Amino acid sequence: MKVTVIGAAGGIGQALALLLKIQLPVGSILSLYDIAPITPGVIMDLSHIPTTVKIENFSNKDIISALQNSDIVIISAGIARKPGMERSDLLDVNGKIILNLIKHIAYTVPKALIGIITNPINTTVVIAAEMLKKIGVYDKRRLFGISTLDVIRANTFVAELKNKQPNDINVPVIGGHSGITILPLLSHVKNINFTEKEIINLTKRIQNAGNEIVAAKVGNGSATLSMAYAAARFVLSLINGLQGILNIVECAYVEGDGKYTRFFSQPLILGKNGVEKIEPLKLLSIFESQLLYSMLTTLKKDIIQGEEFMLK
Ligand code: LMR
Repeated sequence: MKVTVIGAAGGIGQALALLLKIQLPVGSILSLYDIAPITPGVIMDLSHIPTTVKIENFSNKDIISALQNSDIVIISAGIARKPGMERSDLLDVNGKIILNLIKHIAYTVPKALIGIITNPINTTVVIAAEMLKKIGVYDKRRLFGISTLDVIRANTFVAELKNKQPNDINVPVIGGHSGITILPLLSHVKNINFTEKEIINLTKRIQNAGNEIVAAKVGNGSATLSMAYAAARFVLSLINGLQGILNIVECAYVEGDGKYTRFFSQPLILGKNGVEKIEPLKLLSIFESQLLYSMLTTLKKDIIQGEEFMLK
C-alpha cells in the first residue's frame, strides 16, 4: 500500500505523516511531498521512528515520483484561516493549488483514491472533480472531501456532555464542511437521549468548532492536530476498504446520488474501489430536517463556485 501526503510539511501534514508512520499496515510506503524548504528535515525526522513503514523522500521538483504507484493521495496543501475569515475566503488561493495538484494526480495515478483536506472543502472537492472530468479520468467513487473532523468532534462533545467513552459514540455528520452545512445527526446516536436544549447547543458547537480553534490559535492557523487525527482515521478506513474488509463505514463529502445536492457528506460503505455504497439516511428528526433544508442554498452555492472555478 502506498499513501502520498501532499502538503506534508505543514501543520496538518506533519502530524498526519507521524500518525501514518506509526499506523499504516506493515510494509506500506509513505510518500511525503511539500514545496517548503523544511520538507527534507521533516522526512528525516520521521525516518528515525522504528516502524516497518518506509518513508519516501521527494523535493519540490519531483511531485511525479512522489505520486507514482500511490493507492491513496491526501491533499492538505494550502493556506489556513485567520480569525474573522470564513473557509470560503480561502477559495482563490487554495482553489488554484488544488487545480494544479489534481492535474499531476490525474496524469500520474488516475486510479488512486484522493482525499482532500484543503478548505473550503465544499468547493475544492468540486474543483478537483471538474478537473479530473476535463482530463477524462473522473470516477466519483474515488474522490473524497475528508469531513471526519466533524464526526470526531461530535463524538468528543457528546461523550464529554454525557460522561461516556468517546469510542462508544458515533454521530453521523451530513451535508458539507462549513458552518450551517455541517449537520450532526444526534437523533441517530444509539442509547443516548438529549434534551432539546442539548441538541441545539451541541449542534451549534459542532458547526462552529473550527472557529473555536481559529480563535484560540490567535492568528496562527486553524485545526491541525485534530484534523490530522481525523484524516489518519479516514486513510486507515480507506485502506481497510481497499483490502476487502467488509462494512467499513465513514462519513465523507462525495458526489452521491444528488438527492439533496450534487456533493454531499453522508455515511458511505468503503470498498475496493473507494465508495462501494452510499448508505441510505435513516429518518431525521424534525429539527434535523429543518436544518437540512435550510443549509441547501448555501451548499449549492459552494458547489456552483467549484463548478465555475475553472471558467474564471
Ligand atoms: C476545521 O473545521 O477546523 C477546519 O476546516 C479548519 C478551519 O478553517 O476551520
